[in-house]
Amino acid sequence: MKNILTAPFVEEMRKTTANMYRLGWDERNGGNISLLLDTENVSEYLDLKKVIRTIPIGFKADSLIGKIFIVTGTGKYFKNVDDDPETNLGIIRIAKDGETAELLWGYKDGGRFTSELPAHLMSHMARLKVDPLNRVVMHSHPTHTLAMNYVHELDEKKLTHTLWEMCTECIVVFPDGVGVLPWMLCGTNEIGEATAKKMEEFRLVVWGMHGIYGAGKTMDETFGLIETVEKAAQIYMLTLGSPRLNTIKDEDMVKLAELFKVDYRKDFLNLK
Ligand code: 13P
Ligand code: ZN
Repeated sequence: MKNILTAPFVEEMRKTTANMYRLGWDERNGGNISLLLDTENVSEYLDLKKVIRTIPIGFKADSLIGKIFIVTGTGKYFKNVDDDPETNLGIIRIAKDGETAELLWGYKDGGRFTSELPAHLMSHMARLKVDPLNRVVMHSHPTHTLAMNYVHELDEKKLTHTLWEMCTECIVVFPDGVGVLPWMLCGTNEIGEATAKKMEEFRLVVWGMHGIYGAGKTMDETFGLIETVEKAAQIYMLTLGSPRLNTIKDEDMVKLAELFKVDYRKDFLNLK
């Protein structure tokens, strides 16, 4: 059996949480990540017959039965993951009943997975239907994205359009746009269901005045999505209140989308 601390997926969680903390996106215990793992790969590091304990997940995740995820722990600080992965992370398998998580490794201090597990697992289910290669769901509180929520209309078309205008590459990176939910109580099945519904058409979902969710095939893709939104939101906040002399026009965005051959939300542009 190989040492789990050398597993690339543990390494990836350590590096990504450290990066997100360094960028100021995930204060205190803010943010959570879940990564769907390959069972055969995990069996090189863990005895899959050994369940440490079981934890109820609070809903039925039928389509994820038997699947294994590495997930950040609730109340755990991203800044501490790198130093102590076994306390701050856990590896769980969705049990045969679809309603229980079997802990295979981690949460060493008796802890449990993120309180946002409903939003994570429901989003995995929604994205896997659209993209069978989806592996990552990431939640974060990026500063400028959050600031923008207070001064910009929380409307999917308007918010996406403003973000697309802020950096030339935005429409290429997230041509599917950004879904938006109003402020809702977090940590509930309700916000999980609402997020998953949005994930049927978007890889990015803003939680009004709370943060953002991203989904993707790899950690890089998912991180890059949130990073690009955050950069655009930063430009927006830096220019807010100054006279707007220039902008990227809708016709220019069409040229970009066509050159990079991306299928963009045409209804999010104002084309004549
Ligand atoms: P957890 O500590 O339960 O992961 O919650 C953090 C968070 O960002 C809630 O939305
Ligand atoms: Zn949060």
